[in-house]
Amino acid sequence: MNKLIELKKYQIELVLAAEEAMKNAYNPYSKFYAGAALLTNGNKIITGANFENASYGLTICAERSALVHANAHSHRQFKAIAVITSGENFKVEQPSMPCGACRQMLFEASQVSGNDFEAIFSDTDKTRIIIKRISQLLPNAFGPRNLGIDLKKYRR
Ligand code: THU
Repeated sequence: MNKLIELKKYQIELVLAAEEAMKNAYNPYSKFYAGAALLTNGNKIITGANFENASYGLTICAERSALVHANAHSHRQFKAIAVITSGENFKVEQPSMPCGACRQMLFEASQVSGNDFEAIFSDTDKTRIIIKRISQLLPNAFGPRNLGIDLKKYRR
């Protein structure tokens, strides 16, 4: 059964935006599709898709791609992110949870946001949804506070 109907309207919209963004995955190496959609404090949706490289380690995941895309449009404060993934010839049956690099960058985003925002993860069919807070993805994170940095003036 489609789990989307159990979600709130903004959550459904965000998952569907991530699904649309997933179509833009640049994935010649893995053939894996990932889409992410951020909901800004001003209720704009900004998306990202994974962007691979022949030097494999340079690949940028959908989550980080969305964060950089948002920054380019002057958005650094978020209410939520949704992520959905798929194989080329198979559906992922469990939501893919973000890699360590993305967790660290999402933590940075939560700090500049001033909001431990929500993260929604969906399997390909939207039948399994996992919802977390950013702090749950990276407990005891290293962040701006460890460096004595106040991010308030970077909020927009
Ligand atoms: N990938 C993402 O973009 N986000 C995730 O949450 C999981 C992994 C991408 C990176 C790479 O392009 C491909 O999926 C396989 O790792």
